[in-house]
Amino acid sequence: MHTKLTKVFFPLFFLFFLTFSFTAKAVDGEKLFKQNCSACHKLDDKKLTGPGLKGVFDRVPQPAEEWLYKWIKNNEELRKSGDAYANKIFNDYGKVAMSSFTHLSDEELKAIIATIKAGPPSPPAPVATAPGAEPATAPKGNTMLYVLLGLTILFLILINVLSGVKRSLQTLVNEKDGLPAPVELGTWGEIKYWLGHNKGIVALGVIIGFLWISKIGWDALMGIGVYQGYQPEQPIAFSHQIHAGQNGINCVYCHSGAEKGKVAGIPSANVCMNCHKAVQEGRITGTKEIAKIYAALDYDPNTGKYGSNQKPIQWVKVHNLPDHVYFNHSQHTIAGKQECKTCHGAIDSMTVVKQHSPLTMVWCIECHRTTEVQTAGNGNGYYDYIHATYKDKFKGQKITVEKMGGLECAKCHY
Ligand code: HEC
Ligand code: HEC
Ligand code: HEC
Ligand code: HEC
Ligand code: HEC
Ligand code: HEC
Repeated sequence: MHTKLTKVFFPLFFLFFLTFSFTAKAVDGEKLFKQNCSACHKLDDKKLTGPGLKGVFDRVPQPAEEWLYKWIKNNEELRKSGDAYANKIFNDYGKVAMSSFTHLSDEELKAIIATIKAGPPSPPAPVATAPGAEPATAPKGNTMLYVLLGLTILFLILINVLSGVKRSLQTLVNEKDGLPAPVELGTWGEIKYWLGHNKGIVALGVIIGFLWISKIGWDALMGIGVYQGYQPEQPIAFSHQIHAGQNGINCVYCHSGAEKGKVAGIPSANVCMNCHKAVQEGRITGTKEIAKIYAALDYDPNTGKYGSNQKPIQWVKVHNLPDHVYFNHSQHTIAGKQECKTCHGAIDSMTVVKQHSPLTMVWCIECHRTTEVQTAGNGNGYYDYIHATYKDKFKGQKITVEKMGGLECAKCHY
């Protein structure tokens, strides 16, 4: 038996790896295209910031491969060399300069050109494109419950089917031996019979169920008034992972208040339009979510005109301190030189924003006790003066926020 299995499996395994390594090679160009080009180009004929690339081989000067190579590598150089077509499309696209890709190797450029030639890939499986889908995370609260319920039902059906099979076999055996057919127990009877004969598994199930329910109760008790992990759904599937992560847009480009004053602020829809006038379609949600920005501004992407029926986007606030607490962003980001991610976590890898820190009084105080004040000048006259004063007062000592009075009730409470 053992040798038979290995005889079948080994070649299968080998075949699997072979196909795997082949497909891995073949997608290389696709991956490069995604990383470097897809923010501005689609492989079909739809326009983003740049033209859709379908049929580009027939449009550009021949031999097309050679021209494309030069254009992609350094389009500015090609334009400067007086290439008529290069200058024409540059003008046609409102003189928006495409990035140059001199850092890509010849092999990589050729792989990208091959990908353009191959055209758009067949649409990916629907699971991968579900709106707001998070890549491979554990099922959350409700989902977990449904999974468990589903499994239980599946399990019961399985018991039923298996006992059915067992009974049929037993009937056959009994017939052969000239005995009467076995008694019918019915579905519920079968289940009871099975439970009665598998007490170990049943006990384990009961223990797991008990622990699970206790955990829910405990979490609920500990979580009163603490919203760490709070992750509400937003009116537009705005993804920090795509904007701050993949596209490297700086946090303060959108949250300009975070370095200027008390409140970091949420950008208005006009800020979105700096890019979304041109980027009309996303790779994951297509036009669906971006259309909501247009709706908020009563903007018509076909005519490029704004209407008068504008209404602000109703973002759901994630972080909420009570009204009696004073918290100031610039005091922390500029004077205190604290990074956004210290308090907010890896926002740039979140598809949906989640509250990373507990935002409790203990949390604030713990950090004020342990964090050393950055007394190296930071260009803010007021804080430079205060820091210099404390430096004099606590000569040679470590100055924590606590030493500056950061634990005084009135500093944080109105
Ligand atoms: C920042 C946006 C941007 C990125 C990124 C970008 N392009 Fe472009 N591309 C453009 C624009 C805009 C044009 C239109 C010409 C112009 O304005 O210079 C263009 C033109 C082209 C053309 C000519 C299309 C035609 O119809 O003649 C090709 C081919 C092309 N790009 C390929 C690529 C490839 C391949 C990559 C990735 C390696 C890439 N582009 C990355 C913006 C971009
Ligand atoms: C600095 C440029 C820039 C700004 C500002 C910007 N975006 Fe984007 N946005 C992009 C780029 C680039 C993409 C990626 C397009 C792609 O390749 O999928 C994108 C994609 C999207 C998508 C689609 C995601 C997907 O893949 O389906 C949505 C929705 C979106 N942005 C919403 C917003 C909202 C809301 C704002 C304003 C709060 C905003 N964006 C501001 C550049 C920007
Ligand atoms: C393209 C614009 C844009 C960029 C860049 C951006 N954000 Fe945001 N941010 C938003 C929008 C829009 C919201 C409100 C919707 C949401 O919560 O997803 C938001 C929400 C947040 C929130 C939650 C606010 C609340 O309601 O409590 C935090 C925290 C945050 N951003 C931090 C960051 C950090 C840190 C970075 C840099 C790594 C960053 N953002 C980059 C647009 C942006
Ligand atoms: C010392 C911790 C800390 C740091 C550092 C910090 N934040 Fe915050 N942030 C908070 C707290 C606390 C709140 C809740 C404020 C409230 O509810 O009044 C908040 C709220 C926000 C909000 C929601 C809107 C608002 O202002 O209430 C955004 C957006 C935000 N932060 C972005 C940023 C960005 C971007 C940075 C980095 C430039 C940053 N934060 C750095 C603690 C911090
Ligand atoms: C990650 C560490 C950290 C956390 C968390 C933090 N702070 Fe601070 N805080 C600092 C630092 C560092 C300074 C000192 C700024 C400076 O150099 O003047 C500061 C200063 C302050 C000050 C000014 C103190 C003074 O003496 O001028 C107030 C008020 C304050 N924080 C409130 C809060 C509140 C409220 C929270 C919780 C919601 C909080 N902080 C959470 C690091 C933190
Ligand atoms: C570094 C900032 C900071 C300092 C200093 C501080 N608090 Fe607080 N305090 C907070 C924050 C933040 C909350 C809100 C916590 C929450 O909502 O879970 C809070 C909440 C409270 C509450 C309400 C409790 C509740 O459950 O809502 C009281 C009462 C309070 N603080 C008293 C004080 C007293 C008294 C002092 C001085 C000994 C003090 N605090 C110093 C940040 C501070």
